[in-house]
Amino acid sequence: MKDLVGIKELSRQDIEEILNAAKAFKEVLQRDIKKVPTLRGKTAINLFFEPSTRTRTSFELAEKRLSLDVLNFSVSTSSVVKGETLYDTLKTIEAYNVDYIVIRHSCSGAAKFVANHTPASVINAGDGTNEHPTQALLDAFSILEIKGRLDGLKIAIVGDIIHSRVARSNLYLLSQFDTEIRFVGPPTLIPEHAPDNVKIFYDLKEGIKDADVVMLLRIQLERQNAAFIPSLKEYFHVWGVKKDAFSYIKDDAIIMHPGPMNRGVEISTEIADSPHSIILRQVTNGIATRMAVIYLLTPREV
Ligand code: CP
Repeated sequence: MKDLVGIKELSRQDIEEILNAAKAFKEVLQRDIKKVPTLRGKTAINLFFEPSTRTRTSFELAEKRLSLDVLNFSVSTSSVVKGETLYDTLKTIEAYNVDYIVIRHSCSGAAKFVANHTPASVINAGDGTNEHPTQALLDAFSILEIKGRLDGLKIAIVGDIIHSRVARSNLYLLSQFDTEIRFVGPPTLIPEHAPDNVKIFYDLKEGIKDADVVMLLRIQLERQNAAFIPSLKEYFHVWGVKKDAFSYIKDDAIIMHPGPMNRGVEISTEIADSPHSIILRQVTNGIATRMAVIYLLTPREV
């Protein structure tokens, strides 16, 4: 496979291959081996047209752990601000003979566009509201680490699902397994035409009380062109997962969040910092998962 543009294009076998490789890489990292020589002599560029903390830093760490030479591109200090197009930016980078391009962009389809126009391997680090495939993979890896399986689990995705590329990639991934997928949130933030394999809950407690995994999402204000919620304070009151949830969620339920989280909006501090929360483990697992993805891709020969 040359690129990872979306989970939609992956089979269960592809996903399992990536998760198995991530497990192997995590074991290597846990032995305090800081670098493997696997991709020495190859070059990766991280092209971020949107802000990022976790994805950008963990891609950079993953690339360095694989001995890649790494270039970081940030829009605000590039010639994009002088009007250079995505295509011309890509062709400029290509002139350096890079092998891997990691791209985050506000337009859905940007990663596919880039993949179609370069021999380099392209990894989608989030494109608009479309997909964030490595987030879904690291989420699945984290669930597997704790629960030992994906099949048979009830997984509740809570919050602003309609604008979330994380929700979409998780939906595609979890649909390859025998999971019960739930969308939980206000009607304005849940797609009107959800797939048949998804159960919809407009009541927070009903949606999460017997779930094995509760995946919280932030309100994506940057992708909303209308007022979908009355106020963030009201959202927290009705839809925020807060300490009263300790009385009704399963004892072994895990709370996840792709980040960045907004404490006091979709999640309270008591929940974010509780033993149920695996939010920082997700961050850690981003490195091994992204190492696995890069390792398994093969750039086209030129
Ligand atoms: N989960 C995620 O994409 O976080 P960042 O926006 O910080 O990369």
